[in-house]
Amino acid sequence: MNSVVTPLPGTRTELSGGGTSERCPLPVPFGWFFVSYSEDIKPGELKNIQYFGQEWVLFRAETGEAGVVDPYCPHLGAHLGHGGKVEGDSLRCPFHHWAYNPKGWCTRIPYAKVMPPVTKRQPILKALPVAEKYGIVWAWYHPKGVEPQWEIPEIPELADANYIPPARGEWPVNTFIQELGENGIDFAHLKFLHHSPIIPTGECRAEGIRWFVNMANGYIMIEQTGPGLQVVRFTKGKVVTTMVSYPTPVSNSRTIMRMGFTHRKYPQGTPEAKLAADMLQEQVGQGSGAEAGFESVDMIVWNNKCYREAPLLCDGDGEILKWRRYFSQFYIR
Ligand code: FES
Ligand SMILES: [Fe+2]
Repeated sequence: MNSVVTPLPGTRTELSGGGTSERCPLPVPFGWFFVSYSEDIKPGELKNIQYFGQEWVLFRAETGEAGVVDPYCPHLGAHLGHGGKVEGDSLRCPFHHWAYNPKGWCTRIPYAKVMPPVTKRQPILKALPVAEKYGIVWAWYHPKGVEPQWEIPEIPELADANYIPPARGEWPVNTFIQELGENGIDFAHLKFLHHSPIIPTGECRAEGIRWFVNMANGYIMIEQTGPGLQVVRFTKGKVVTTMVSYPTPVSNSRTIMRMGFTHRKYPQGTPEAKLAADMLQEQVGQGSGAEAGFESVDMIVWNNKCYREAPLLCDGDGEILKWRRYFSQFYIR
């Protein structure tokens, strides 16, 4: 009997080719990553979240600022996300009511006559740098705590009232984040997995932290900034639809893939409106888990594949190794 077994993250799996291989041998990369839609964390709220291989507490102070902090109180180790409470500008620990602001500074110890001097000098609770842009709370993760090395780029479509509010999708995947982006340069799979009539041609280039792909003479243009943000624009005639992808590593072997799809608002009933709606449907539909759908077919591959560190490639493959060289700058090993 055939059965598909999805191994637990990080486990080793027997490959049909024989031998044992770690499915996901690479660490969580550094960069800006989606941690929440802004509207999903209101002033006064807190949530326990799991990203970058550990637990964090996401909260929003009553003053409006969002924080992503280590869950364990620097005092005596209580979990801030279990019984903690947002109070004013800070998150209050349930155990002895020490309070921390979104940057990790200790703001109050209600029973201390003198605050420990270190609390004046530096944040004592580990807090990730946070930015809010495009209705998304982004956290900067770096395994060594290095400060942000770039800014979240401008995505004109997401800041323009002439565009429809992005349609959103979300899919958990049992693999590491690099594999998702590798799809964008793996031209051959578009024919064989996705039934595209031809294998499209394309060019790619890396520019520092950015990565660009021009596929099928400008029909698909990919713009990646760091590991956690990719913008893909599809052009048919005068109509452009934009797919923004912001995957977040849960760990080095599990990723939540999230996307938003948008296009310019066109007057109802115009050919542009129809074409944009069709293109959007094509893309969203691809992502909706329909039987031959885009994401559902990739998903089966991703959830079960292993990583070939030194793959045997042929001349019809895209520039997979160039993509991997680009991506390798985000790993600290
Ligand atoms: S353990 Fe958090 S205040 Fe004491
Ligand atoms: Fe794919």
